[in-house]
Amino acid sequence: MKKTEKIWLDGKLVKWDDAKVHVLAHGLNYGTGVFEGIRVYETGKGLSIFRLKDHVRRLINGCKVMAIPLEFGGRKYGYDEIFEAIKEVARVNKGVDYVKPCVFLRGENVGLNPVNVPASMAITGVHMGAYLGEVGAGASLITSSWHRPDNLCSPAGAKVNGAYVTSCLAKREAVEQGADEAVMLNSNGYVAECTGENIFFYRNGKILTPKPSNSILEGITRNSVMEVARDMGYEVVETDVSRVEMLTSDEVWMTGTAAEVVSVTSIDRRPVGNGKPGPVTTALHDRFADIVRGKNPKYEAWLDYV
Ligand SMILES: Cc1ncc(COP(=O)(O)O)c(C=O)c1O
Repeated sequence: MKKTEKIWLDGKLVKWDDAKVHVLAHGLNYGTGVFEGIRVYETGKGLSIFRLKDHVRRLINGCKVMAIPLEFGGRKYGYDEIFEAIKEVARVNKGVDYVKPCVFLRGENVGLNPVNVPASMAITGVHMGAYLGEVGAGASLITSSWHRPDNLCSPAGAKVNGAYVTSCLAKREAVEQGADEAVMLNSNGYVAECTGENIFFYRNGKILTPKPSNSILEGITRNSVMEVARDMGYEVVETDVSRVEMLTSDEVWMTGTAAEVVSVTSIDRRPVGNGKPGPVTTALHDRFADIVRGKNPKYEAWLDYV
């Protein structure tokens, strides 16, 4: 991974090589942390962070769920300070297109008890590029043998570090089978989401996407694409989607901050539709690409200028 200039760690900008934690950090050993992934775009009005307000709210809500106090380096933080710190990281690290804040328990405590273990926050700028590589011609998916953990196993609606082991296992399955991504079903057998993306289907003239109670992360890109699709006149339904419905949809696409809007052209070695990105996917992809780059004034409120 290409190093960037500065990492924000507990209120200070430090050099990449100096952003260190102890091997016994609670978060490293037990996954007690919450993170975000946020895209930075060049626009006609300068650098902008897409839906930063929503990402900061989701990060803070995740910390609330994990009961991690927002106190780092002896100082209490709130929404405004975190919002500004993320902007600062995007500003000082020239050319980054992604920012990853992570709040984690840094205390050197052996044992699972997270109560009163001190926390840290790191904000790293990243040169991400295209997260799923060059899949312009469409991504291939497999259905993972790992299920998306439901809300009784872990807070599915929060980006909790430890919960991502399932996504890593599913991603490994995909890569080892020569596919680009894996889709996970939930414990009821309905489609949940991909390892780091939500999933949409175009079927019988309607757009379908798994509803929040199907153990998904309510993606900010998912929310954006639903709103844009409705504005474009499509009917969008949040519902249960079966594996059969998934395999027989006319079009399928994934949405995520890192991946953006990516067409899926095969699932479990079966072509989706005619095996090429479809017109609905392409229209949404193109509309989204314009919005994030500030080329569509209707959605200007989603842009936070750095
Ligand atoms: C499991 C999972 N689902 C969906 C998403 C997409 O969410 P967003 O659009 O907010 O990036 C992500 C990425 O954060 C994710 O990790």
